[in-house]
Amino acid sequence: MTHTGYEGRSVLLTGVVGDIGQEYLRALTEAGARVVAMDLEQAAEKGTRLAEEATAAGPGNATFVAGDITVAADVARAVATAVETAGRLDALINNAAIYHGLGPKRSLLELTEADWERVLRVNVTGTWQAIRAAAGALADSGGGRIVNVASTVTRMGAPGFAHYVASKAAVEGLTRAAARELGQQGTTVNAVAPGLVDDTGSRAVNTDEYMAKVSATRSIQRSMVPADLVGAVMWLAGESSGFVSGQTIVVDGGGVFV
Ligand SMILES: NC(=O)c1ccc[n+]([C@@H]2O[C@H](COP(=O)([O-])OP(=O)(O)OC[C@H]3O[C@@H](n4cnc5c(N)ncnc54)[C@H](O)[C@@H]3O)[C@@H](O)[C@H]2O)c1
Repeated sequence: MTHTGYEGRSVLLTGVVGDIGQEYLRALTEAGARVVAMDLEQAAEKGTRLAEEATAAGPGNATFVAGDITVAADVARAVATAVETAGRLDALINNAAIYHGLGPKRSLLELTEADWERVLRVNVTGTWQAIRAAAGALADSGGGRIVNVASTVTRMGAPGFAHYVASKAAVEGLTRAAARELGQQGTTVNAVAPGLVDDTGSRAVNTDEYMAKVSATRSIQRSMVPADLVGAVMWLAGESSGFVSGQTIVVDGGGVFV
């Protein structure tokens, strides 16, 4: 499906090389957006190739920027690249997080302080750093959009990932606080909370049996794929959602209702 209203729209997307980030990049450039796609230096080769492929497919284009979302100078450079290449910044999609890299499930009693701090630092501090870096350029566009990525694990508790669950709950709180503050400058801030997506990251940390069990609890009883997230993200990052702010939209096939 091609989304409308994105011709020439300038978007900063973080965490582009994961399965879900790639899907957002494709949808954005297919819709005509000018995308700055950010991911870690170690992902630069893949990120650059993805940006080149998206640009070749058009009609939009993408530029890859290597950087760490927890580093203020890196996110500032990504924002500056968007403003230099597109002349403006209309939306920030805060998709980067530690998920795939969580490793095996462990009790919260077994997590080390280093595990805890690494996940909170990237998922919460990194999201805040990107918001902080982009806020001015988004305000200049007159109707900025920020889409953060939470997770349905916050509603379920999801044993084995206490640090990740806590980090995504913090992202929801940050979304509301940022909605209040940045609303003053015309920017909306919302979150999308995906359910368990059948992708490389989820397969790395969950058994087939668990994946099947989650699918069976949904109203729409099937596996969730990255493409299932695109509609909600494109709507929240687009022009037509301008009077929606501070919300978390759950996209999980009707699995959790709180
Ligand atoms: N896959 C799922 O089932 C699921 C469910 C709910 C929420 N989510 C969320 O959706 C988003 C994308 O998930 P995914 O499955 O593609 O995850 P992933 O772990 O495969 O990808 C995350 C991306 O973020 C990048 N990244 C990590 N740390 C970074 C940093 N410090 N700076 C810049 N980039 C960094 C990684 O390199 C990777 O490309 C994440 O926010 C994740 O928490 C995923």
